Amino acid sequence: MRCLHALPLLALLVGCESSPTAPPARYTPAQIDRGRYLVNSVAYCGFCHTAMYPDGTREQSRLLAGIDCIIDRPAPGQTRANPDDGYGCLSFTNLTNDATGIGERTDEELKAATFDGVRHDGTAVSTVHPYYLYALYSEPDRDAVVAYMRSLPPVELPTRREPPWTTAPLISVVTDAQLPTPSPAYPEHEAATRGRYLAAIAACSWCHTPTYPSTDPRAATDVIQRDRIYQGGRGLRALSSLGYRPGMIALDPPVSPAMWSTATVFSTNLTPDPGTGLGSYSAADFTRVMHEGKDPAGKYSCAAAHGDPTSISASLTDGDVLDLYHYFRSLPPATRPVPSTCEAFK
Ligand code: HEC
Ligand code: HEC
Repeated sequence: MRCLHALPLLALLVGCESSPTAPPARYTPAQIDRGRYLVNSVAYCGFCHTAMYPDGTREQSRLLAGIDCIIDRPAPGQTRANPDDGYGCLSFTNLTNDATGIGERTDEELKAATFDGVRHDGTAVSTVHPYYLYALYSEPDRDAVVAYMRSLPPVELPTRREPPWTTAPLISVVTDAQLPTPSPAYPEHEAATRGRYLAAIAACSWCHTPTYPSTDPRAATDVIQRDRIYQGGRGLRALSSLGYRPGMIALDPPVSPAMWSTATVFSTNLTPDPGTGLGSYSAADFTRVMHEGKDPAGKYSCAAAHGDPTSISASLTDGDVLDLYHYFRSLPPATRPVPSTCEAFK
């Protein structure tokens, strides 16, 4: 029956079960396809919202169905976090069309939460979800992302959201004017301009921009240093709250689990600085990072973000990778704020 393709909620509203004709499709197949590409290849929402197998690849059977209590904080007065004390859990929300996911949200509520950080209950979405960068999505791309989310089969998976996350502050979003702009003299200026938008909505800056040290007062109201976007140097713990564990990242030679637990890797400077950035990278070098997670010497980079077939950027089209390459080449070179620690692991 055609109704099976309809949303459960919509089906309910329009009385689909007894209707002889299918309800009008809310989104076009082209919108859903664009959304699928944006969610799974460009923004890579499943980096967070899809559970992982022990080898670090994503569970495709539960695509975007979330992970409960990915971060837990100790309750006031406690030294250890306890997932059962009603305090401290933040989850990767279930994005499928189940009541435990987004099934009861309207499209407008979904867009406000995803791209503006405002939840249906008026509270702010945690900045672990990088809405301050997703705010740069165009209106048609916002619709496409929602269209694709609406196409996901329901998976039942309740996720907890507990204090202190429920009172997180809403931070100001990154504006177009804050994004670095291609040099007008750059020969492939059009490609670089397309790459600028792609890099923005892929949220490369989420990892490739330094954060404020926790002692800096600006850390309370902002995540990334907006005057240093794409300059690299964000520290990501190898064993991190994002769930990387030993063995998840294929490093050659392998790194001992003991080292992982203490290791911090600092993201690459994506500006074309010859010494500390991508100055010497050819388009082929850049493509190898994006598609295989390997540096120009053929070794895996120290980033869970790049490096396996289901990782960030692995399934970007060649054309989009080239646009990204031209964008980063066209930026004014900047010196990386923090040296790389990756060599120590290789
Ligand atoms: C770095 C990890 C991360 C990435 C990447 C990410 N999210 Fe999230 N997302 C989260 C977390 C954590 C929450 C829960 C926030 C909270 O409860 O305050 C969340 C919440 C949400 C919510 C629900 C907000 C609500 O409570 O109503 C939606 C919808 C959502 N994300 C969609 C997306 C989409 C679409 C993408 C890709 C464009 C994406 N997310 C990428 C971590 C992430
Ligand atoms: C989840 C965090 C994260 C995201 C998102 C991310 N990266 Fe990275 N990336 C890293 C880290 C960490 C490294 C540093 C690895 C190292 O030191 O070898 C890195 C390394 C790189 C490198 C150099 C790799 C090498 O060893 O030669 C390039 C190029 C790169 N990223 C481009 C991008 C682009 C373009 C995007 C957006 C499409 C992106 N990254 C998104 C974390 C991320």
